Amino acid sequence: MKVLVSGATGFIGRQVVKALQGLSRCRVLASARNIDKLKILGADYLVYDLNQEPHNCYEQLGRPDVLIHLAWEGLPNYRESFHLDRNLVNHYRFLKSMIAQGLPSLTVTGTCYEYGLQNGCLQETAPTNPATSYGLAKDVLRRRLEALRQEHPFSLRWLRLFFLHGPGQPERTLMGQLDLALAAGRESFDLSRGEQLRDYLPAVEVAALIAKVALQTRHDGIFNVCSGEPISVRRLVEEHIAAKGGRLRLNLGVYPYPDHEPLAFWGDPARLRLAAAAFEEEWNHVASL
Ligand SMILES: NC(=O)c1ccc[n+]([C@@H]2O[C@H](COP(=O)([O-])OP(=O)(O)OC[C@H]3O[C@@H](n4cnc5c(N)ncnc54)[C@H](OP(=O)(O)O)[C@@H]3O)[C@@H](O)[C@H]2O)c1
Repeated sequence: MKVLVSGATGFIGRQVVKALQGLSRCRVLASARNIDKLKILGADYLVYDLNQEPHNCYEQLGRPDVLIHLAWEGLPNYRESFHLDRNLVNHYRFLKSMIAQGLPSLTVTGTCYEYGLQNGCLQETAPTNPATSYGLAKDVLRRRLEALRQEHPFSLRWLRLFFLHGPGQPERTLMGQLDLALAAGRESFDLSRGEQLRDYLPAVEVAALIAKVALQTRHDGIFNVCSGEPISVRRLVEEHIAAKGGRLRLNLGVYPYPDHEPLAFWGDPARLRLAAAAFEEEWNHVASL
């Protein structure tokens, strides 16, 4: 089975490529724009900018059986209009061309920001109401892909990722900043009050789950990619400092809570677990994911 990973050089993409490389029945094709970053993945790669005209893109990208589409430009900058003006337009054009040219199975990473300002345990059936351009662009992309299935039959898995942490995380993220502060031996770390509840998973686990949902054949549709176990940001940070043997003092309340996120939300992983179980059965425990 030929599996193409777009955005293969990103924080999540690098881990997804590694997860797929552990599967003997998979031939992995990695794609992104920067050839130097692609070369170090140790997979077959194809340099491709999805802002270009997608004539013949399915052929150019090796006629994969499955596309795991992780590419997205300009993160985080959640409020900026380029998510809608450029990314939404170009990603839909690219994905529509891939499907029209023969791609049978598509897995795309969305975001928990599609839900907008809703508190509590969120299920995939909850109505979406994004509060950022980023969340809206992803939500509209999903709706357009769903509508496209009326024209072309293809398998669509839409993965709403919640929060991730782990090695290689971007310095711009909370946990990336925390690791920098620990590595620099700083005495204190500025935080919000830290009482907001979030749903975090290690990036390596998220990558394995993305691969599993993409490769199983029984379940289509929307999947929360989450733990189902809310944790306060303060506790997450304190546990991470303790695990690293650090001595950082937290300056709580320095930053306000972000107004594009609800105070307490997490995901229901029931559909995710069904798909992961289907993968285990179908791949007959040959897989090492
Ligand atoms: N990280 C999270 O916490 C999180 C949470 C929810 C959802 N997500 C979603 O998960 C996906 C991956 O996130 P990430 O954190 O791994 O992102 P990232 O680290 O910013 O990586 C983005 C990837 O996309 C590629 N890319 C960007 N523009 C491209 C273009 N025009 N043509 C081709 N490739 C392009 C980049 O490589 P080049 O620049 O070399 O092309 C890179 O490989 C995204 O769709 C994101 O929305 C992430």
